[in-house]
Formats: sequence, C-alpha cells, structure tokens
Amino acid sequence: TLQEHDFFMLKEITEQPKAIKQTLAGRLTASSVSIPELDTFFEQFQMESFRKVDIVASGTSYHSGMIGKKIIEQMLSIPVEVSISSEFSFEHGLLDDQTLVIVLSQSGETADTLSALKEAKAHGAKTIAITNKKRSNIARKADCMICTNAGPELAVPATKAYTCQMTALILLAIALSEKVSGPGNKMTPDMLEALKELPNEVEKCLIMTQDAIDKFAQVTDDQDHLFLIGRGLDYVLALEGALKLQEVAYLHADAYAAGEIKHGTMALFTPGIPVIALATQAHLREKTISNIREIKARDAYVVGITTIGDESVAEVVDEVLYIPEAHAFFMPILAAIPLQLLAYYAGTVRGYNVDRPRNLAKSLTVE
Ligand code: F6R
Repeated sequence: TLQEHDFFMLKEITEQPKAIKQTLAGRLTASSVSIPELDTFFEQFQMESFRKVDIVASGTSYHSGMIGKKIIEQMLSIPVEVSISSEFSFEHGLLDDQTLVIVLSQSGETADTLSALKEAKAHGAKTIAITNKKRSNIARKADCMICTNAGPELAVPATKAYTCQMTALILLAIALSEKVSGPGNKMTPDMLEALKELPNEVEKCLIMTQDAIDKFAQVTDDQDHLFLIGRGLDYVLALEGALKLQEVAYLHADAYAAGEIKHGTMALFTPGIPVIALATQAHLREKTISNIREIKARDAYVVGITTIGDESVAEVVDEVLYIPEAHAFFMPILAAIPLQLLAYYAGTVRGYNVDRPRNLAKSLTVE
C-alpha cells in the first residue's frame, strides 16, 4: 500500500504532492507567478532580444523538456527547439547571443548536459538551468538557476524530479510570457487555478489509480512487450512511461504517436498485447479513440487513461483509469502518476530492485 515504502521509488512517487508544493512555494502570487531567481537575469537580458529558445536535457529530463517546448511555444509564440544533450553538444542549429537556452537536469551533474551548457555559453547564448541541486556544476555554470526544491531523489528512476521539473517549466513559461507582452497577458485564470490545485490533484491521482495499476501490472507479468500511445502532450508522456518500464521492469515498452501506429508498428500487434492509451487531452480524444478502435480490431488488451466525466474512452477499451481533469498543460503531470506506479509494480512483481536498475547510475558524469 502507499504506506509501505519498501523502496525509495514508491516513497518518492507518493511524496509528489509535497514535492510539487515545494516547487510552487513562494512562486505563486494572488494573480500570477513570480520567480525571484529570474529578476537578476532580466536586469541583464531583455526577453525581446531572444529570437528562439532551445531546451536541452537527457533521459527523463528530456521528456519534460519536450513538454516544456510545447508549453513555452504556445505561451510565448517563439520558436522552441528541444534537444537531447548528447546530440546538441556536437550538432545544433542556430545558436547565438539571441538564443535562450534552458537546460534541465535533476542532478545538475549530467556530463552530456553540462557539455551542452558549455557549448551554448561558448556561442554567447544566455542560459537558464532548472535543477534539483542548488550546488551542482550545471547550477553554477548557468546564468540563472531555478531550483525544483523536490527534495533528495534517491531511487535511480526519476519520478518526483520529473513532475517537479514540469511544474517549474510551467511557472517559467508563465513568467517568460509576462516579460514578452505585459503582465498577465498570457496566463489564463484556469492555469493559475490549476497551479494552486496541483498538489491536491496529484494526491487524487495516487489514490484513484494505485489499485487498478497494481492489478494490471500483475496480469502483464508474463508479457515481453507493451505499447503506449497518445497524441500531443499525451504522446510525450507515453515516451516517459515507456522509458520507466524499460529501466525499472526491464520490459520492452515503446511509445508511439497514436496516429502513427497504422504506418508500420501495427504489424507487431498480436492478440492480447498490452497497450496503454493515453487520452487525457480533451481536444485530441476523439482522434485517439479512433486509433484505439484500430488497435482493438487486432485484439490488443487496451487500458485507457482519461479524465473523470469522460465516457467515450470506456466504450472502446478493456479497462479504463480515471484521473482528475485540469488545464491541458497539467495533464502530463497528473497522468505521469499511474505510469510511474505501473513501472514500480511491474518491476517489483518481477522481483527487481527498482531503486537500483541494472547497468544504470543516478548521476552520469561521463559523456
Ligand atoms: C530515468 C532517469 C534518467 C535521467 C537522466 C538525466 O528515470 O532518471 O533518464 O533523467 O539521466 O538526469 P539528470 O536529470 O540528472 O540530468
């Protein structure tokens, strides 16, 4: 149960409401957000001087970067590229003093990300680091450091570091958007509301999904493959869900944009193959449902994840999990919870030490 923390991974999954509260602490005002760390940065640099934004990170942090890209692009109407650190260090697009580079690293020590940061600085780009370690190399090297304040994460798989990074990215997107076009222009009241409610909603996700996910993990114990599908932000989250299952349960899990399956991967679908269909983005749900129908026609076993109040997903899947509904930007934070729990239960039912997956280290200080 949630009270028994056999592993740090479960402890860290369940403490996400508190961790997110810490990320938000001191950064919400009555009508907007305030990130004091950005003040000195913007005394030196004008947001108007940036022509583009690059987000650079590795692994799970790269996945929160992909979410951050979509959010910052929508909020700021500025081109945002997102890159894997180990690629960016050697091959990147336009990078100059009109580029704002945001690096994401829980540990603040990932060698690939540190190299990317140095490369960005060498080209005159201005840099912001979002990290969970105030006293780290990445924190020290960046022009500005925003700490996620998630508390120490001891299990190798990133869980609370991920949701707190996404929370920090939403705060940053709002703060940057206000620098561009005047206070409050881009932030809608439902975003502020969603930020304030976020810790509670994450708590609800833990309660609402834990038992069903535990059961699903038990029945997929003998499976060698699992697919995750989704559109938009759900697709990005599917990538993270797959990574967690690979590293924690040593299960071959792959993520696909829901509309892409029919372009090749469908050939792999055999009866009973487990598929997680993420359908938390209300505006994309109908399309995702038609993709689920295609998969069901091949007799896959589909678990749908959707929001409370939606009845359409339940009609096409074998099992449905409900999570609370929030502004679209926040759904990847809420829907991350059942996916983290799935990796945890799938790993433990197979008898693995989920805190210390084989061949992996918490902090990767070599390139
Ligand atoms: C996966 C995981 C890794 C890290 C990656 C980057 O659960 O933890 O993929 O996200 O090694 O680490 P940081 O964020 O410390 O730079």
